Amino acid sequence: MSDQPRDQFSRPLRDLRISVTDRCNFRCPYCMPKEVFGPDHAFLRDPQLVSLEELGRIVRAFRVLGVEKVRLTGGEPLLRADLPEIVRVLKQEVGVPDVALTTNGWLLAKHAAALHAAGLNRVNVSVDSLDEAVAARMNGLGFSVSRVLQGIDAAAALGLPVKINCVVQKGVNDAGLLDLCAYFRERAHPLRFIEFMDVGNTNHWSSDQVVPALAIIGRIHERWPLEPVGPAYRGEVAARYRYRDGQGEIGIISSVTEPFCRDCHRARLSADGKLYTCLFAANGHDVLGRLRAGANDDELRDFIATIWRGRNDRYSDERAALLARHESRPKIEMSYIGG
Ligand code: GTP
Ligand code: 5AD
Ligand code: SF4
Ligand code: SF4
Repeated sequence: MSDQPRDQFSRPLRDLRISVTDRCNFRCPYCMPKEVFGPDHAFLRDPQLVSLEELGRIVRAFRVLGVEKVRLTGGEPLLRADLPEIVRVLKQEVGVPDVALTTNGWLLAKHAAALHAAGLNRVNVSVDSLDEAVAARMNGLGFSVSRVLQGIDAAAALGLPVKINCVVQKGVNDAGLLDLCAYFRERAHPLRFIEFMDVGNTNHWSSDQVVPALAIIGRIHERWPLEPVGPAYRGEVAARYRYRDGQGEIGIISSVTEPFCRDCHRARLSADGKLYTCLFAANGHDVLGRLRAGANDDELRDFIATIWRGRNDRYSDERAALLARHESRPKIEMSYIGG
């Protein structure tokens, strides 16, 4: 069996996004609304989670199949106590070239040094607004954004490259986009705006809450003229623009108005070790189950390769047609599968 599988649309497997926990210390209404993810919600129990050792074996199999980049996500990955150990194993034992983290930043100041020492390459932090009242509403629990900003400073002071993610919801945080630009231009962190997506089943998504990428770009361009930059790598999710005055760049993740499935090289591993071939997939393939049933490394690799060869997902490309037909499909929650 050849080492580097291609899927049904000839897409290689290059990125692996791993959710290390389905828990989060925030309750952003667009992701884990607190009415749904309340005290009675059944989160995964510890024995169900992929252990450090298991993760090493699984990622080694993905590495053989072509994975170059691993992104640790959640839920909130910093809730997992062994996260620095996970980074160390992926970097030093498995030899993953690019290990990145996506976090809400609340616990970042505390853990940045250990993650950096373990070999973490870079970090993406969510900041939806600099306005305390808006930020408090968007994290669902009234938390202050200033602590997140301190986490970003701590990571940057260690030399970790930082990018900022902002989910844009019409009428909620879109009035503050220029403030975010001003703040992160000064600090030279690329800021990426994400169109609000219909992930999961619980966030009451509707298309009129989406601010289209073009409108976001237009607003910023009026204040600080922009020009497009080519992607940093094939299949980059964000379309990049630089400020003409040389003060850094922004990105737009337009999975609603301009989907990018064509170049999607991403697989996702849930916190309980299931492989999902799309953010919007309803069913996962139980990689951890195979491993725990005694599969050896070659069997694990072949199992994953076969799934990838059969992959034909392109949900965001199909979304408009599905919506027009008032069809919906069952989906899994983003906090479980990893953003
Ligand atoms: P870089 O490696 O820094 O380019 O990061 P990234 O953009 O791949 O990762 P990040 O976790 O920062 O992703 C930002 C957001 O983009 C995610 O939270 C999702 O909202 C969205 N996104 C990432 N990958 C996909 C994908 O495969 N499909 C869709 N529809 N959205 C995605
Ligand atoms: N639409 C767009 N982005 C989302 N994220 C979470 N839920 C949604 C959604 N419904 C983003 C977070 C973070 C990343 C992990 O996923 O803001 O940047
Ligand atoms: Fe937690 Fe991130 Fe989801 Fe917000 S978007 S609830 S921080 S996982
Ligand atoms: Fe990839 Fe699915 Fe997102 Fe399309 S919708 S870019 S196939 S994860």
